[in-house]
Amino acid sequence: MNFSARKRIGILTGGGDCPGLNAVIRAATKTAWSQYGATVIGIEDGFEGLVEGRMHEIQENEVSNILSQGGTILGSSNKGDPWHYPVEMQGDLIEIQDCSYKAIRNVERWALDAIIAIGGDGTMNICSKLLDHGVNMVGVPKTIDNDLAATDLTFGFDTAVSVVSEAIDRLHTTASSHHRVMVIEVMGRHAGWIALNGGVAGGADVILLPEIPFSWQEIFHVVKQRNTRRKRFSIVCVAEGAKLPDGEQVIKALDNKRTDARQLGGIGAVVAQMIEEGTGLETRVTVLGHLQRGGSPTAFDRVLATNFGTVAAHCACRGDYGKMAALRHNMVTTVPIKEAIAQLRTVPPDNQLVQNARAIGTSFGNATVETVLPTPVDA
Ligand code: F6P
Repeated sequence: MNFSARKRIGILTGGGDCPGLNAVIRAATKTAWSQYGATVIGIEDGFEGLVEGRMHEIQENEVSNILSQGGTILGSSNKGDPWHYPVEMQGDLIEIQDCSYKAIRNVERWALDAIIAIGGDGTMNICSKLLDHGVNMVGVPKTIDNDLAATDLTFGFDTAVSVVSEAIDRLHTTASSHHRVMVIEVMGRHAGWIALNGGVAGGADVILLPEIPFSWQEIFHVVKQRNTRRKRFSIVCVAEGAKLPDGEQVIKALDNKRTDARQLGGIGAVVAQMIEEGTGLETRVTVLGHLQRGGSPTAFDRVLATNFGTVAAHCACRGDYGKMAALRHNMVTTVPIKEAIAQLRTVPPDNQLVQNARAIGTSFGNATVETVLPTPVDA
């Protein structure tokens, strides 16, 4: 597609909200304005707004004072996949239809030279399909789950880990006062990064991840042993995607309108009940839920989001399409969107933090494996 000399750049936020989205919108918009004199069109509610033609030109007052704000000024949705679009039929009936032609028509109607899409793997998959249909897409990786293989980090993750760490600090109080086992369920979908990093930062005694199979006997053993060693309490941090010993995940709900129909959740309650029954120790569960995604981004996430937004604006305005901003070895760079969606980034069971946590006595609910020492840099 070939449009104006003065670029018109669309911008949208897709999927679940995440601290730092507004920082990206602000950085991308300001860069597009100041460096290229471009017009920036805010597409509302993710790809829903693209399909339905709901968008507007972003004005200066919209992007001032939003750096520290959580959420997204543009709105977001995880039900807007143009190829899997929920259409309301008569009598509250929802039919899933291919509405991609509407999305592409709106790109032409609004004369968008390129679209910056800020989102996770679902959003990047849609970007890839739009690219195949001639729409100029640029991606910015967002997700508290940190599960995109092409970038070392996504913004929002640091904030989520800080929330988990603080929550565990608070749970320690009741755990030690009442000599209880406190189970905390955290987000992350199929990746255990939030549970691993939040659990280590909070000093959890047991961390359960989707990537490491656990056994009930091992968990019972750990919490009972802590009791005999006069610790008399345990903190168990469980990722929502952790698999029960039979290999199944706990699904809270199925919603066909979502890009990913499975809504994970509920494993914390299962783990708490099993521990109470298996050890006789009083156990409580806390599900941290959307607190992990809400509120103000950390300074780290604001900086990463600003870097990503700026790089994305340069790509969109210079015609460097099909790229996603990424952090590689502490440098902000770009990678092809197609590469970004090729693989989910999950926790390797021999990950260094897993090994180090084991070394200080943290259990992952299975028997300890041999520690692999890091290779020295000058070896
Ligand atoms: O991908 C981010 C995330 O917060 C996951 O960690 C979680 O499984 C999911 O979104 C929850 O989605 P929703 O807000 O739609 O319930």
